[in-house]
Amino acid sequence: MKSVIVKARPLRCEIIDVPIPEPGPDEVLIKVIYCASNPRDWKAPDHLVPGVEINQGNEMSGVIEIVGSNVYEFRKGDRVAAAHPMQTENGTYAEYSTAPVNTCFLLPPNISFEEACTIPFALCTAAIGFYQRLKIPFPTSPESSRVQTPLIIYGGSSSIGAFTLKLAKMGRFEKIIVVCGSGRPYIESFGVITDFVDYRDCNVVHDLKAALGGKRCFHAVDAIMDGNSFGHLSEVLAPEGARIAVYLPRLDYSCIPASISVAITFFGTVHGQATPISNEVFEEDVDFAYAFFRLVGRWIAEGKMSGHPYEVLPRGLLSVEDGLRMLKEGKVSAKKLIYRVADTPTLEPEYFF
Ligand SMILES: NC(=O)c1ccc[n+]([C@@H]2O[C@H](COP(=O)([O-])OP(=O)(O)OC[C@H]3O[C@@H](n4cnc5c(N)ncnc54)[C@H](OP(=O)(O)O)[C@@H]3O)[C@@H](O)[C@H]2O)c1
Repeated sequence: MKSVIVKARPLRCEIIDVPIPEPGPDEVLIKVIYCASNPRDWKAPDHLVPGVEINQGNEMSGVIEIVGSNVYEFRKGDRVAAAHPMQTENGTYAEYSTAPVNTCFLLPPNISFEEACTIPFALCTAAIGFYQRLKIPFPTSPESSRVQTPLIIYGGSSSIGAFTLKLAKMGRFEKIIVVCGSGRPYIESFGVITDFVDYRDCNVVHDLKAALGGKRCFHAVDAIMDGNSFGHLSEVLAPEGARIAVYLPRLDYSCIPASISVAITFFGTVHGQATPISNEVFEEDVDFAYAFFRLVGRWIAEGKMSGHPYEVLPRGLLSVEDGLRMLKEGKVSAKKLIYRVADTPTLEPEYFF
């Protein structure tokens, strides 16, 4: 089968022929219909894990082909979306990929493969940050009906930011303040944001304080982490007891005052991987993901959850290189770049059976 290897400096992709992988006991083998790109897919070979050239894809939707020996809840032919463990073989930029069952969910009939492939990796990361690290009450908790103090989402139109907003919509907050730019129309459509701050206006701290209107804020999500963002948040969060969820474990956050907790969020913890640098293992995230993915399918069926906006690039796996370059150059606003594997010009005829 065809598999895309991501290389760095310069960023480029090579399509190679590899055997179809075998699922482990607690995994499924998925015939990939759509796969999606995430910023880490170019960052990993470039500077996160330099020198390692593998298929970097982590998100997909497709049809189950084979189930592992311990798997009892999925079967061949099931329509699913799934996240593949980061930085491991058999990634999702391929005709077939593997996923552990704790990050795989059945697609209800009301969602397309296109939309579904935008969900697993980004939504799960957002959920880990929101519920597991910031300790926002989960919707099943009696605490979730209590009105929470204001929430700030820095980078509301990013995938992580927008999925966090969808989760926040299920809770109750005094205010939801979002920092964004040209992606505003999309997140405005959620109908839950009380205040917008435009990061391009250079008055972010002033505007955040104005939006808070004197209320103390204990929870912030920083999906941008460009230095300015957590610097700005540090200036407006409550001086004691506040938490910021961040998603780049290797960054230096030492400029954030010690009185603010930095909640480092790393998708890999749902697959038992330790957080880079701080080397923390959150065993509870493995089962959290298992339960969360089952709920996600149900929430989609009920209309409470949906995918991120997306653009399908034209040449299937051959377009992954273009997509990663667009992400690297910061040319992607409020959408995911996705690929239909069957659009790849060089696929073997049997893929299309
Ligand atoms: N730790 C993990 O496991 C993990 C998992 C997933 C992602 N991440 C990381 O999390 C970050 C977000 O990923 P993503 O996929 O959500 O990104 P993304 O969707 O590609 O983010 C693009 C968005 O960033 C917004 N943006 C750019 N500069 C901004 C600024 N200064 N202030 C506010 N918004 C700004 C843009 O908003 P406008 O269009 O409104 O201008 C754009 O819509 C990345 O650094 C990624 O590597 C980490």
